[in-house]
Amino acid sequence: MKTIELNIQDAVYFADKQYEALKDETVQALATLEEGTGAGNDFLGWLDLPSKTPAELVERIEATAARLRENCDYVVCVGIGGSYLGAKAVNYALADSFADFYAPKPNEPKVIYAGQNIGEEYLAELQNLLKDKKFGIIVISKSGTTTEPAIAFRLLKDQLVAQVGKEEAKNLIVAVTDAARGALRQMSDEEGYETYVIPDNVGGRFSVLTPVGLLPIAVAGHDIKKLLAGAAEMEKSTLHASDSNIAQTYARLRNALYRSGKKIEILVNFDPKLHYVSEWWKQLYGESEGKDGKGIFPASVDFTTDLHSMGQWIQDGERTIFETVISVAKPAVEHRVPMDAADLDGINYLAGKRIDEVNKMAELGTKMAHVDGGVPNMHITLPAIDEHSLGQLIYFFEKACGISGYLLGVNPFNQPGVEAYKKNMFKLLKKPGY
Ligand code: PA5
Repeated sequence: MKTIELNIQDAVYFADKQYEALKDETVQALATLEEGTGAGNDFLGWLDLPSKTPAELVERIEATAARLRENCDYVVCVGIGGSYLGAKAVNYALADSFADFYAPKPNEPKVIYAGQNIGEEYLAELQNLLKDKKFGIIVISKSGTTTEPAIAFRLLKDQLVAQVGKEEAKNLIVAVTDAARGALRQMSDEEGYETYVIPDNVGGRFSVLTPVGLLPIAVAGHDIKKLLAGAAEMEKSTLHASDSNIAQTYARLRNALYRSGKKIEILVNFDPKLHYVSEWWKQLYGESEGKDGKGIFPASVDFTTDLHSMGQWIQDGERTIFETVISVAKPAVEHRVPMDAADLDGINYLAGKRIDEVNKMAELGTKMAHVDGGVPNMHITLPAIDEHSLGQLIYFFEKACGISGYLLGVNPFNQPGVEAYKKNMFKLLKKPGY
């Protein structure tokens, strides 16, 4: 199986000195992470999830997924932040780009997402869609008390019970939550829902390889064993300090660039299927690193789409940015530009070429222009958009995030800043106790 690759040759010379200076610190940061001696070390359960996930758990997840697939045309995945972004990233990457426009087929439900916003129209329209439809719910909340998913779940649960009755609803609701704490745990136990546990030592944004991500991914019909296998390969290859440890290299270089004044990292893709991988990545790095007045600001763009919007800024704006490009080596299909006798659009010079060849030249041309314009460019090659490669990519980014947070001097595993808006909102809404 091919492995993802990281190329830093068009970025490292922008911060040579800082990169060299970080050599020993990076080895130390990796050791701190692996030995569990750093800040937040009670949240390191994700480190060996790929290699240690029991086969019985995977089988149970697949059995639950099969039950939901058999009985539902729609499965609503209710969660916010780390409790939905990983699954959405993988499901979106692996789906047909126009899947939403096809009707559900038997045993192939549509996975849709709720509880990640408080949009009144969003929720009302979702409930309209599900009216008289066969649907199920996976409700995911580690704390079991988060407002956004709680509102969505309350609405959807009531609708499901009204449509199929309390007994049948039990078979169609699955909760993923803490083993013992939280309102969702108590409700699940009282109502008799099937439940999965989010381990205590795995934080939300590092939880995609637990049932949080694995169940909705399996329900969408994807192979979670391959996802875990890809991640396990990355776990093995990033365990020890070495020049070929790409998580170590990525963490080291992004911190070197930060120390040289590059405060913003833009994750770039040239394939629209990777849009939600960037959303997941932004949450992972944003919540892990943005604290104590520090942190590389994680941004993202979809190219070539955003070359026609953000391209100007990236080429000519303030020189405080660097790019990390995810490039897909091989698309799953071959599709070519057709010949046109009139050639009024003047693109016959492309006729017969694969669309991907045009895309790859856009990528190369963009890199040359941006590097010339003072934007360091790191390059990740994803062998293909499949479960195995995505498993590698997920673990690579998680591992690099832990190392990077320690290099930055923060606790990458807490998120104290997230509470500030909640306290104000609860006070404004007159929640008891606030
Ligand atoms: O990474 C995190 O910890 C957060 O983004 C959480 O995943 C998010 O706030 C949802 O929390 P919960 O699963 O407790 O509802």
